[in-house]
Amino acid sequence: TELKVLDLVPFGLTSGEARFYALRLERPDWGTWAPGQFVMLRPAGWALDMLWARPFSICRVSRRDLVIFFQVVGRGTRRLAELHAGDTVHVWGPLGNSFAVEPDTPTLLLAGGIGIAPFIGYVHEHPKPWNVWMDFGHRMPLGCYPFDSISDRIMADTHMEECPEDLQKFIDLLGSRMAEFAEKQGLVLACGPTPFLKTVRDLALHHGVRTQLSLETRMACGVGACLGCVCRTTEKWPDPAKAEGRVQTCTSGPIFWADQITF
Ligand code: FES
Repeated sequence: TELKVLDLVPFGLTSGEARFYALRLERPDWGTWAPGQFVMLRPAGWALDMLWARPFSICRVSRRDLVIFFQVVGRGTRRLAELHAGDTVHVWGPLGNSFAVEPDTPTLLLAGGIGIAPFIGYVHEHPKPWNVWMDFGHRMPLGCYPFDSISDRIMADTHMEECPEDLQKFIDLLGSRMAEFAEKQGLVLACGPTPFLKTVRDLALHHGVRTQLSLETRMACGVGACLGCVCRTTEKWPDPAKAEGRVQTCTSGPIFWADQITF
């Protein structure tokens, strides 16, 4: 699908430099979508060396727009940060599976940095008093999202915490939150960078709390054709005959239960 850029809003300013952007596109003609799914996106007219599209979690789909968040981490995202209103982008989606929704289960949403994106859609689509725990450290003050309606809603309906900067304190606090949800027979959903997910996975297995992780894997096609997004799975899954397996993140994920995968 070709979609027009409505606007591009920088947020989470660090010493005058925008690290994060919210890209708002015209609403795609999708039947349904679910929080946790992603899109592949490529601006029209990229040169051959920038041919590959990039995967982005869907942040929100409203009647008017589709929003994704991205962080400038390399050449491709730097080019995305140069988009202007009226530019055209190619979008494939919605792709992949989505987060579990269990309205009667206490649910903790763990966002590492820009991993907050799918939870904005999640909180919107499934309103209830979620616990959202964020790892923005000192880089992004709470509630600084570029859309008032989003931040108001999250602030009103959820309980948020900022993580301590000290790594050990951060892991201890994360561990105590997850132990609390293990006790309540709750559910934990996490999205963020790989070291963050690895810590969440280890704590999930340690405390025995059901946990889903949304993997941040490099993808080139997003539809199972290039084998560029393989991740390692744990014992006996998906094939009970194999000690360790491999699956494509784009078609089997990007969301997996913590005991299904290894890093
Ligand atoms: Fe190509 Fe998954 S991104 S197979």
